[in-house]
Amino acid sequence: MSEQPRPHDPIQGDIVHQYDDIQEADNKLPQWWLWSFYLAIAFAFGYWVYFEAFAVGKSPLDRYSDERMAALDTGAPVTDEELLDLSADRLTVRGGARTFAQNCAKCHGSQAEGNIGPNLTDEYWIGGHAPIDIYQTITGGRSGKGMPSWGLQLGPGACKQVAAYVLTLKNTRVPGKEPQGTKVEDAPAGPVKTAKK
Ligand code: HEC
Repeated sequence: MSEQPRPHDPIQGDIVHQYDDIQEADNKLPQWWLWSFYLAIAFAFGYWVYFEAFAVGKSPLDRYSDERMAALDTGAPVTDEELLDLSADRLTVRGGARTFAQNCAKCHGSQAEGNIGPNLTDEYWIGGHAPIDIYQTITGGRSGKGMPSWGLQLGPGACKQVAAYVLTLKNTRVPGKEPQGTKVEDAPAGPVKTAKK
């Protein structure tokens, strides 16, 4: 097979490859195109560092979650029903998980499996296990027992969120610290869910 002379197209320039009537040239990409490509890479890297890798800035979802958290601070008395409803709300639980990782994991373990503080995923409770008991343990702490009070530091909205998160962990039985307190016999298996929205 003899070498074909390279065809030349008046618009595309030299055609370097041709197959099935499709002609490919090998021209330089325009500067504006290359720059938008490089800038997009730089932007993506900056975005990743800012929002993901070092979480310097809050993502729009986190900001929305914070606003909803502030809205939870109604001043009305907290009830079991409210906390159970919140534990079925994904965004609230997500906010609670964030608060837990920042403030509680050092004593209760990153999976709430227990460390200095008790395992929050087993069926054993030192204090009450009702949603409102858990909320009050968080806001008021257990003085002299090593559980700090969080009510003033985090505010009622964040305490509700983190209580809702703790409710989703109830009876998920993550292996960890040995049981403390009394066994709650009627504990339902798995995360607490409610049908009510
Ligand atoms: C300085 C360590 C420490 C930190 C931080 C901490 N806890 Fe505790 N927590 C404890 C200890 C110790 C107990 C057990 C208290 C007792 O013996 O009554 C406890 C008990 C609890 C209980 C009750 C468990 C039961 O069996 O009755 C809950 C719920 C709880 N903590 C949630 C939280 C949440 C939510 C946070 C973060 C906002 C948090 N804790 C932060 C040490 C800590």
